[in-house]
Amino acid sequence: MSNDPLLQPFQLKHLTLRNRIMITSHEPAYPEDGMPKGRYKAYHVERAKAGVALTMTAGSASVAKDSPPVFNNILAYKDEVVGWMKQLVDECHDHGAAVMIQLTHLGRRTRWDKADWLPVVAPGHEREASHRAFPKRMEDWDITRIIGDFADAAERMKAAGVDGIELEAYGHLLEQFWSPLTNDLDAPYGGSLENRLRFTMDVLGAIRKRCGPDFIVGLRYTGDQMQSGGMTKDEGISVSHMLKDSGLVDFLNVVRGHIDTDPGLTDLIPIQGMRNAPHLEFAGEIRKATNFPTFHAAKIPDVPTARHAIASGLLDMVGMTRAHMADPHLVRKVIEGREDDIRPCVGANYCLDRIYQGGLAFCLHNAATGREETMPHTIPAAPAKKRITIVGAGPAGMEAARVAADRGHDVTVFEAADEPGGQIRLTALDERRREMISIIAWRQAMCEKAGVTFRFNTFADADDVLASTPDEVIIATGGLPHTEVLSAGNDLVCSAWDILSGDVKPGRNVLIFDDAGDHAALQAADLISATGASVEIVTPDRSFSPEIMAMNLVPYMRNLQKRDTTFTVTWRLISVTRDGNQLRATLGSDYGDVTRERIVDQVVVNHGTRPLDDLYFDLKPMSSNLGQVDYDALIAGAAQAVQPNADGAFRLFRIGDAVSARNTHAAIYDALRLVKDL
Ligand SMILES: Cc1cc2nc3c(=O)[nH]c(=O)nc-3n(C[C@H](O)[C@H](O)[C@H](O)COP(=O)(O)O)c2cc1C
Ligand code: SF4
Repeated sequence: MSNDPLLQPFQLKHLTLRNRIMITSHEPAYPEDGMPKGRYKAYHVERAKAGVALTMTAGSASVAKDSPPVFNNILAYKDEVVGWMKQLVDECHDHGAAVMIQLTHLGRRTRWDKADWLPVVAPGHEREASHRAFPKRMEDWDITRIIGDFADAAERMKAAGVDGIELEAYGHLLEQFWSPLTNDLDAPYGGSLENRLRFTMDVLGAIRKRCGPDFIVGLRYTGDQMQSGGMTKDEGISVSHMLKDSGLVDFLNVVRGHIDTDPGLTDLIPIQGMRNAPHLEFAGEIRKATNFPTFHAAKIPDVPTARHAIASGLLDMVGMTRAHMADPHLVRKVIEGREDDIRPCVGANYCLDRIYQGGLAFCLHNAATGREETMPHTIPAAPAKKRITIVGAGPAGMEAARVAADRGHDVTVFEAADEPGGQIRLTALDERRREMISIIAWRQAMCEKAGVTFRFNTFADADDVLASTPDEVIIATGGLPHTEVLSAGNDLVCSAWDILSGDVKPGRNVLIFDDAGDHAALQAADLISATGASVEIVTPDRSFSPEIMAMNLVPYMRNLQKRDTTFTVTWRLISVTRDGNQLRATLGSDYGDVTRERIVDQVVVNHGTRPLDDLYFDLKPMSSNLGQVDYDALIAGAAQAVQPNADGAFRLFRIGDAVSARNTHAAIYDALRLVKDL
């Protein structure tokens, strides 16, 4: 047996967990009609198969109707949940993984204009900044009702065969009782810390009564709100002792911070550019103080840090949640001594940010996550070896190369630059976003292992491609910034890329016209304002940076608000003219016939990219499919079969931004779903 600390079993009451790695609760927003159906099950089973010890399913499965889902959570208040959960649990058990589920009442952390339109409840009237609902202050009958709801939901989960449950306290109703910031009830549920914990103890007591002493029950909570007027670390330690001493819980799952604002949430669940494992030592302090089973997750993306967390006795179980979204086979690779093959989580937080916008959690660079029913995590070998030529080594081209090589094909990649990466290389020049380069570096390492031929510094033309005598050609040449959007003065502006690459030096007084709303504009603003320059970001949209979601915005704002930056929404840059040695920028509006002027020394335009597609159109007439893609087959995850030009010697496909400006996930998904069947 291995002596790797991570691979030692852990005994939790009667339950033996096969190793120390768990997936903490996270709602990927995959339920259908509030139930964990096929997509949900396939997602967890993939990870169970690969060796994870414990998967804490759901995130915030709702126990009551007045806790309507904020991101398509599982509805644990419906009886039909039992059957769906049972299928998931049974299948994960078949593969040796333990399964638990997180239950919650969201309290004020939801909205009243959802589901049954019931008022949002909390132990006080203070609203939460993130979800904005002004709550009803709970009455005695609300308290009694919700205690019963928790017990009912726990009983349903026990009936589904889960190995245990976890109650989500932090930021949700249970903690809203704990914190003086949100509880202004009188005794017995308000006032002293003991009173503020009474609701939690009543809930736990009701669950124990219903599910018995052997059922495993834990609590996920913050041991320090890190917020003025909130629960302190000392109180957090007291709460930890009180929970243990109650005899009602079997494990503590500790986090640190608060989640009522986007910046708070981002400190609790750090993203790229932020420190790894920032709360690990704190969780270790709780474990030391209580000598009780302690679980924890917060940006522990790599195996060495996880190993340290266990080896040094800081934790009993280490959560690697986003790490498992990026690579579901993480544990298997540890067991097989293939840690270097693990697809790294780069902290892009596309997964988490999407659910707050009503989307499904997808990993920026693993397009099979959440799509296990149609997309493979392990690429099957092709029936026959082919020659595949790929042009462009950005994210789309590199994913195409990786997948084609895994299929067993003979793969050649042409790239005009001297190294791979495309737009990601530009992004990763920013120290804060440096982790992004692992998206490319991992693929490069996989391609090199699989024998892909790279021809860098080669701006391939049709002859180069034809000389490689390909069976399949994939054009992944990306795009170039498009700045020709003005009625006059297009020659006087530069692109956000010019700034990011260092080709154009930042001005002193700069207007950024952001018509794309993505990272490039804010990254340029960050870089320019860091020099002490004054920056105004102008957008025709009704809010700025609409493509940058909640948690990704936080580090930008933390920099920009300290500096001389302003945002102007609902104005559009019309033209730029020279004004002495300055520039005169004229702004117009989609809302009416109005203009404004600005005098600046630099205008930067961020208007996305236009496809670099000349090579595609040169090759198109010679191809057997004339570039056509069968979308129905593509969506179904099936092979392409269209062949309008039987004389063509090869098939031709175009992916990523070479088709139209989108994002990294779209580029990688384009590549995976096409190439997995070539
Ligand atoms: C898509 C997504 C949804 C999440 N939802 C929840 C949730 O409902 N409840 C919860 O306690 N934590 C939730 N989390 C937080 C994770 O459990 C975990 O604490 C966090 O991702 C940090 O760990 P990691 O760095 O290993 O990913 C969510 C995380 C993600 C990525
Ligand atoms: S989207 Fe980013 S943070 Fe989320 S799992 Fe993928 S790499 Fe990690």
